[in-house]
Amino acid sequence: MTISGDIKKACAREALDIIQNHSVIGLGGGSTISHLIEFIREKPNFKISVVTPSTSTRLLCLKNGLDVLHTELVDHIDLAFDGCDQVDEQLNALKSGGGIHTKEKLIASMADDYILLVDESKFVPVLTFEKPVVLEILEDSMAYVQKKAELLGGKPIMRQSDAKDGFTVSDNGHLLMDVYFDHVADISKLESDLQAIHGVIDTSLFVDVATKALVAGENNMKWYSK
Ligand code: 5RP
Repeated sequence: MTISGDIKKACAREALDIIQNHSVIGLGGGSTISHLIEFIREKPNFKISVVTPSTSTRLLCLKNGLDVLHTELVDHIDLAFDGCDQVDEQLNALKSGGGIHTKEKLIASMADDYILLVDESKFVPVLTFEKPVVLEILEDSMAYVQKKAELLGGKPIMRQSDAKDGFTVSDNGHLLMDVYFDHVADISKLESDLQAIHGVIDTSLFVDVATKALVAGENNMKWYSK
């Protein structure tokens, strides 16, 4: 399905309406969040503070004159908005792209509401796992986590680039392992089994994290809540 930029813009426009003046807002990454930043900037007499796990979002906020807080000094966020690769009717979500999921989950957990902004192509009855679950892992645990992920039915592939001896590193300097699953019978159990492996710092599977999703289509906009 081809999704026009207008749908993402409409989604961001609707999200703007629930942001209170003078609140602390978490903002993830992606094109919908970029539209939201522009709408925030354009709203007259509107002042909010932003916390973000994303370097590109931080730079975009600063460029647009928004106040960006240091995450390490923040212990509460009013609302956090983020994108994802897929979200289902239970509001389980999968993020596979940026490899910044550890910080994204931290910001989500600090927020009263963690709201996913998606176009309708990303909203499914149950997550399909066409994309991998990404594990941020300690370097020393690589072979061990690979073996454990295989025992859980996954096909682990280290994410590669020229960054560190051929491996991609996360924003925290750790390795990233993409784990592909053909079939997941119990999403919640998979998440807790992956979290329980020593050496795994966090996974890009978000279970019981999102409290709301705003799903935008060509002619409709729908809110889903936990
Ligand atoms: C990457 C993500 C991004 O937040 C997501 O892909 C952004 O999507 P869009 O550009 O459609 O707003 O989760 O894993």
